[in-house]
Amino acid sequence: MDFEKLGAFYLGKEYDITTGELLDQLLMYDARDLTTHAVCVGMTGSGKTGLCIDLLEEAAIDHVPALIIDPKGDITNLLLTFPELQPEDFKPWINTDDARRKGLTVDDFAAEQADLWRNGLSKWGQDASRIQMLQESADFKIYTPGSDAGIPVSILQSFAAPPLNWDEEAELLRERVKGTVTALLGLIGMDADPVRSREHILLANLIEHFWRNKEDLTLRKLILSIQDPPVRQLGVFDVDTFFPEKERFSLAMNLNNIIASPGFQSWLQGQPLDIPGFLSTPQGKTRHSIFYIAHLSDAERMFFVTMLLNQVITWMRTQPGTTSLRALVYMDEIFGFFPPVANPPSKQPMLTLLKQARAFGVGVVLTTQNPVDLDYKGLTNAGTWFIGRLQTERDKLRVLDGLESASSEAGQALDKSELSKIISDLGKRVFLLHNVHEGAPVTFQTRWAMSYLRGPLTRTQVRQLMGGQPPDKEVKPLPQTKAAAEGPLTVSPSISPDIQQIYLPMRKDVRTAVQDLDIKRLSDVQSQLIYIPSVVGMGFVHFTDTRRKVDEREAFALLLQAGNGVPRWEEAEPIDISPDDILHDPEPDTQFHQLPESMNQQRELKKLQEDLATHIYRNRSITLLYSSVLKEYSHPDESEREFRMRLTQAAREKRDEEVDKLTKKYEKRLRTLGNKLRRAEAKLDKKKAKASSRKQEIAVSVGESVLGMFMGRRSTRTASKAMTKYRQSRTAGMEVKEAEENVEVFQKEMQELEQELKEETALIAAEWDETLQEFEEVPIKPRKSDVQVDMVALAWAPYWSLIYKDRIGEHTTVVPAY
Ligand SMILES: Nc1ncnc2c1ncn2[C@@H]1O[C@H](COP(=O)(O)OP(=O)(O)OP(=O)(O)O)[C@@H](O)[C@H]1O
Ligand SMILES: [Mg+2]
Repeated sequence: MDFEKLGAFYLGKEYDITTGELLDQLLMYDARDLTTHAVCVGMTGSGKTGLCIDLLEEAAIDHVPALIIDPKGDITNLLLTFPELQPEDFKPWINTDDARRKGLTVDDFAAEQADLWRNGLSKWGQDASRIQMLQESADFKIYTPGSDAGIPVSILQSFAAPPLNWDEEAELLRERVKGTVTALLGLIGMDADPVRSREHILLANLIEHFWRNKEDLTLRKLILSIQDPPVRQLGVFDVDTFFPEKERFSLAMNLNNIIASPGFQSWLQGQPLDIPGFLSTPQGKTRHSIFYIAHLSDAERMFFVTMLLNQVITWMRTQPGTTSLRALVYMDEIFGFFPPVANPPSKQPMLTLLKQARAFGVGVVLTTQNPVDLDYKGLTNAGTWFIGRLQTERDKLRVLDGLESASSEAGQALDKSELSKIISDLGKRVFLLHNVHEGAPVTFQTRWAMSYLRGPLTRTQVRQLMGGQPPDKEVKPLPQTKAAAEGPLTVSPSISPDIQQIYLPMRKDVRTAVQDLDIKRLSDVQSQLIYIPSVVGMGFVHFTDTRRKVDEREAFALLLQAGNGVPRWEEAEPIDISPDDILHDPEPDTQFHQLPESMNQQRELKKLQEDLATHIYRNRSITLLYSSVLKEYSHPDESEREFRMRLTQAAREKRDEEVDKLTKKYEKRLRTLGNKLRRAEAKLDKKKAKASSRKQEIAVSVGESVLGMFMGRRSTRTASKAMTKYRQSRTAGMEVKEAEENVEVFQKEMQELEQELKEETALIAAEWDETLQEFEEVPIKPRKSDVQVDMVALAWAPYWSLIYKDRIGEHTTVVPAY
């Protein structure tokens, strides 16, 4: 059985519903068909989750990433894969209630489950090595918004201004604002109408205001701006008339309660709600991210799902179009999130996804027990239907209606009564697959899942499984600062007027500075803002390399602190500042450090300016990644993850194309050969039949001639006829042999062709694997003339000078405030 096919998912085997027989025909599903989305319906226990786990496993093996929303907690089972299939592997995860019910000890039950899985897998042609392959193909993670049982998720990013253009995407962005506001108000128990509710209108206006100005929001900022709105006019009324200040205050208080509650802190920590991070590891390995939301309240679930879907849409819109499957969005138990009549905030983004995701290669898969839970309009966008056993006639009718409109959308006719009969006869793990890309529906039984389907995990088990894994660390080195604590404090030193002086902005208040110290039980903090002199150099480097399509202007800004001796740029630190951030006046009530000897003269700064150009020329380079297989370079502003994701998708598209070409080529040859073979076989049958009939004829003819002799008839004719018959029989025998040889020749050719096809496919697969290998690093250096130093100036950098007490005693320290 060969089910490791490129770009095709092994979901099971065809099943003859009339005889109840499992057929030998594999059910291979073309991954690309998922870009038109799939719906999976069936009553409880019909095997929906099992089927979708199969599908996710296949996606993982094919390096297709997935975002998985898991309201019940059983998709977490994707992490329960045990290549060794040993009872000890199963033991921590078995359902002890099940063991008890069966009257077995935990050990015996674990052994039984291990056996069950080993046998089940082998019956479906799968073994340990396939489980191993699954584990190696993708990274599986469980995220738990609002809890640290799995990896917590920080929702802060979902308030950041989306990187989309307001003029071009106004409708989409407004939908997003609306959804965000409804979900947020849902958290404080308000079911607000976007058109009538004052609260909704105000918040939506505020968010739009900030986002239009490309200003990232936080909940805190949003709440503060409710009291002091930057938008003064709402419709024809002044904001205070529309929504008086006192009443706004009570809305702000209500929202503040969310932030103030101790539990809410966990919503602000962890992996940022940023889609690429959920689709791949920082190193670019395919990831399946399971969002476990079983522990959340309905309003919290709605809030999270809405935020997540919105992020998916924004991310998706920044991707290039494709026809190959790029990623999956899967939601188990869609109940309540995509209803036919009501309009919860999750509905609009889901609908948008169903309508638009196809162009971006994002496939949506939804499951439900209850077809009446699903929005009818949205479902006409689903190209694949997995229909399991249904409980009621009403459910069946509903599904058939949905199928009918999805089919008519695809221009196909549907035999409803035939399908209705089939659906009524479906058993456990048997599904009717209706795919608008295929000619006719098929029934199939799902293959045995590699993951141990033990059912929903509790939060404690999730914790046990994830073992306190931290969110990804983004590798961003923090600039090191030397605390320049010595030197007397003076007031505004007098400096030669030909030295350009600038002030770095203060970006950190005392509270944050103290928090950053990370010292427990500190008290009696006294603070003073001081300016410490340093030199700042700014400018641009231009990296060009036509062959590698690099044309990148990169700004640089370095901060060089005064130390002992001659200042050298090698000791400078990069600083995140642009010419616009620079101030020309100091903050009030600030003290100044003395200017060191090494930087108090104009010629010294001049020298530093010259040194800077050389320093940048020698030390600045950008590193591109190069894939020798695809002959592609990364872009300068592309991370390894983004580059890998781009290449994987490019390689996937290429692979799908090649497989298509190959299939077409061989299909034709196989069909021609098959026809020849069939004809040869038919001829053989005919010859065989002829040969045996000849034998009978001989008997009869010989009999006749013998009879003729006795009866005195003239027998010469008959005798000679018998001879002819005998001769004919001999030739018939030879013809049979010849026909047999013919059949053999075609059979052999057929086998050779099949072998050839296998080898060519393996070649494509190997190439595809190769593209996922390591990359070379290619440094691009600037030419000297490509370094442009715009400014080298004496810069006053603000610091907090802190005096505080802890258990040991009093301390003095200086912390950067820029
Ligand atoms: N592919 C599979 N491989 C092995 N066992 C399976 C598979 N699919 C289903 N099962 C078994 O059948 C049980 C019920 O299936 P499943 O949980 O998939 O049903 P469901 O349709 O999702 O039900 P619900 O609507 O209650 O979630 C599973 O717990 C598992 O034991
Ligand atoms: Mg289920």
